[in-house]
Amino acid sequence: MTIRTIPMFDYAEILGRTLAPETLLETLRAYGYFYLSGLDAAVPPRLFKSLKENAETFFASPMGAKLEYYIGHSSNHRGYVPTSEKGAYSDETARVYEAFDIGHDVAWPGARDGRDYRLIGPNRYPTHVPGMAETLEAYYAANFRIGTQILRLIARGSRLAEDHFDRYTTRPASQLRMIHYLPNDVVVGADDVSMGAHTDYELFTIIHQASPGLAAFDRKTQTWGAMPVFKNTLLVLAGDMLEFLTGGVVRALLHRVVSTGEERYSFPFFMNLDFETEVSILPVYGKSEQRVVVGQHLLGRLCRDFPYLRARIDEGRWRIDFDLQGQEFQIPGQERRAQS
Ligand SMILES: [Fe+2]
Repeated sequence: MTIRTIPMFDYAEILGRTLAPETLLETLRAYGYFYLSGLDAAVPPRLFKSLKENAETFFASPMGAKLEYYIGHSSNHRGYVPTSEKGAYSDETARVYEAFDIGHDVAWPGARDGRDYRLIGPNRYPTHVPGMAETLEAYYAANFRIGTQILRLIARGSRLAEDHFDRYTTRPASQLRMIHYLPNDVVVGADDVSMGAHTDYELFTIIHQASPGLAAFDRKTQTWGAMPVFKNTLLVLAGDMLEFLTGGVVRALLHRVVSTGEERYSFPFFMNLDFETEVSILPVYGKSEQRVVVGQHLLGRLCRDFPYLRARIDEGRWRIDFDLQGQEFQIPGQERRAQS
């Protein structure tokens, strides 16, 4: 029998400042993830409940009603993602999910320099799902508050002022996805993957899972392990941007979703900095000349995942003045990672 340790913190420890920043960072370094419980004040159970109810109602709508909000018709990457919007993952053998994406809701910033690729602007919601806008905006705001608290701990643990990142999260490129895995009769085997192995692109991801399916890669044992689901609890996964900022001390967690044949809902919130923020490795973790612009990295990755975005750029409808393919990180002292 193997007894597995599950890293879990109570959100009250974070708010009450009893959780040492070093403990949080060491946990992320050792595991690449942790669970967060004690969230009743931050995310009321009724908000988790109405989030799932909204997802059920929206995804059960006729395809025509969903496609009215097709993400490919959005100017700022918001809306419905059908199963056919398939990313470039060679191991995605049994893709059976659809999604609905929102971001930081802000009025159109205007074309300050004639470019419109910044993914910034208002959210769009189906009018036929009552309360969906209010629920998703409330859930986005709750996750952003939790993300800000985690980021402040990371700043303290990295010998920076607690509010170091606050100035870079005024109009964040943080996204929230509602993901619906359709019930299916795909022959289930250990290698049937509905969402291919990948790391998330942002600082960290805060996930609410309604049922099992997520698996994470353990670098020590080189094996995949199922991530358990706990009620009214969130799972926090380290992402690419945190790996870059920490010079690879914290590694982004490689994860995937295995098809179980069962219907499943998952709600990841991707905590990110503002689109234009240029980042480099934080001083405490070493030195590097490399600079990365948060939004360029994000867009480089999204183009891999969304054929409509690639087409929009290839056809010149979105003008890009940077190398979309050149958004791989170079972590000092680490070999270049294979595409995951
Ligand atoms: Fe992911």
